[in-house]
Amino acid sequence: MNGNGAPREEFARDARIGLCESKRKWLPARHLYDAVGSVLFEAITYLPEYGLTRADHRVLRRAAGPLRGYIRGQALTIAELGSGSGTKTRLVLEALVPDLVRSYCPIDISSEALERCRQELGDLVPVLPYHGAYVDGVRSMRESRPADVPLMLLFLGSSIGNLGPDDRGSFLASLRSALRPGDYFLIGFDLVKPKSDLLRAYDDPTGVTAAFNRNVLGRVNRELGASFDLDSFSHLVRYDEAERRVEMHLLATRDQSVPIPLAGATCDIRSGETIWTESSYKFERAEIGNAMQEAGFRQLATWVDEEWPLLEGLWLAD
Ligand code: AVI
Repeated sequence: MNGNGAPREEFARDARIGLCESKRKWLPARHLYDAVGSVLFEAITYLPEYGLTRADHRVLRRAAGPLRGYIRGQALTIAELGSGSGTKTRLVLEALVPDLVRSYCPIDISSEALERCRQELGDLVPVLPYHGAYVDGVRSMRESRPADVPLMLLFLGSSIGNLGPDDRGSFLASLRSALRPGDYFLIGFDLVKPKSDLLRAYDDPTGVTAAFNRNVLGRVNRELGASFDLDSFSHLVRYDEAERRVEMHLLATRDQSVPIPLAGATCDIRSGETIWTESSYKFERAEIGNAMQEAGFRQLATWVDEEWPLLEGLWLAD
């Protein structure tokens, strides 16, 4: 484990497959988040062009009070997929503590992120971190709770949009089967908006998102012993309107042949070729309802930000 997320062997395998063996080069988006990438992502959330996180704060501030009205019973365990900086979670927790919340369980593959979360939120509620994969974390809480203590699972900020349609469907279904009937799921979806707003949000003039993107190759250099010249890759953002997907790529500006020692392979890339590093899907309201229903959830309430259309919904595991 490199301490910042996925184990090094997994990163090496993905670099070998995605950069050296695949016809179309790509890297899974989760590798963007090492210590440097996480700080750069945090900086992105402050950019004037990236409205998503501020929209999420506004929606959660509005939803936090009414949330109480949807909870039956006296006690609740809260779990969160990805622990983030804790600021959004605080809005939800503050509305429900002290009487309704027994404990808060952030689930993350990064031990640093879990520790940060304990520091940020430990003053509000007992923090019981789970170090591991999302679905495993939720499953581990299935039997460990008394029958009358439902779980409220949080997946805020449209991280669901970083999964493609097939993975998204199976991920939601796996979460549903890891939950118990009567558990709650509060999940955010960034909605479709004008292409120009999206391109600005993911290709900001300050260059923070470009640095976030290039850092993944920096990681290949630091952790897998490669020597990619980061200056010969440019940040490329496209919006595919048919797929409703913002794509982030690294565009090679010259031919290169770069050995990746710890992946045991060489990346041969031509000028003009790209490495696809992230997809960020944007949603129509109707498709959200269908996808959640198909996975076995019933809608209790939704809140939408008008300024930067983003939907947070509270769903019940049926
Ligand atoms: C974490 N995720 C929801 C962000 C997004 O908007 O897809 C990641 C991001 N990539 C570039 N900017 C932000």
